[in-house]
Amino acid sequence: MATYIEVPSFKLNTGASIQGVGFGTWRSTEEEAYSAVIDAIKAGYRHIDTAYIYGNEHIVGKAIKDSGVPREELFVTTKLWVTGVQKAQECLERSVKALGLEYVDLYLMHWPVAMNANGNDPNLPSKPDGSRDIIPESEWSYIDTYKSMEKLLDTGLTKAIGVSNFTKEKMEKLLKETTVVPAALQIELHPLLPQQELVDFCHENKILVEAYSPLGSIGAPLLKTEELIKLGEKYKVSTACICISWSVWRGVIPLPKSTKAARIAENFKIVKLSDEDGKTVSELYKTHGVQRFVAPDWGVKIFD
Ligand code: A2P
Repeated sequence: MATYIEVPSFKLNTGASIQGVGFGTWRSTEEEAYSAVIDAIKAGYRHIDTAYIYGNEHIVGKAIKDSGVPREELFVTTKLWVTGVQKAQECLERSVKALGLEYVDLYLMHWPVAMNANGNDPNLPSKPDGSRDIIPESEWSYIDTYKSMEKLLDTGLTKAIGVSNFTKEKMEKLLKETTVVPAALQIELHPLLPQQELVDFCHENKILVEAYSPLGSIGAPLLKTEELIKLGEKYKVSTACICISWSVWRGVIPLPKSTKAARIAENFKIVKLSDEDGKTVSELYKTHGVQRFVAPDWGVKIFD
């Protein structure tokens, strides 16, 4: 029998508590998202992650309401999309309304990218030549976006602000040029993309790190890794449990996503990895190679 441990709570630099395993809703259709969030809350998740661009905020919000769990027991994150960066307050108001809530717990800048809000598509505009309709950094940078997000804290519509898909270099610049230290950074993180330097930088600066695609995103490719399968056998848990438990072991909040009730429940059970096993997982990229599964083409360089 496996020995599961309670999912821990982490602290944000605002003082707020956040559950150490969150529920991801990216790529869930409307129908899937509703039952998935209901199932997640039933399984014990109190931390739900969504975004304007997922198109499911209203469904996630309805599921939260129908779950009957008091609002103050939940931690809800949503994100500012790239075409909204010059009207952050309007976008936050729209998201909070879609969710049917009075506030969100965390509002993240989804990408360090700015796109034309009046282009040929509300979410992913392109220029006549087919290239992305980006606002050049010289005109509007992620620093400008973040400065406008800082003001959102006064509205009461979000309790904390943070960023997503930032590199260490961008985090350093952000800390130098803005006032509010982001409460969280959400990035792609899993055994084949551990980004240890960036994680260490965040921890040194009291920025909580959240891992999206902790299983490698679509089809959970990491679950085929032999060493992870063996560790699963050792701890008598699923391979997914090893990936999720490894994240918690290194002080990072994983946001596993599933639409299947059994997997949703399975992903909320974690074990305490020994330091030796944790380090083994952290080093798998050395033999398997680094793999980034989520790298949309923005027409500008995002990652190193
Ligand atoms: P599904 O939604 O059909 O369960 P990530 O969390 O890295 O984004 O991974 C999500 C992918 O992994 C989805 O394709 C999801 O499929 C699948 N998945 C999630 N949890 C598990 C699990 N415990 N075992 C196997 N596959 C899983």
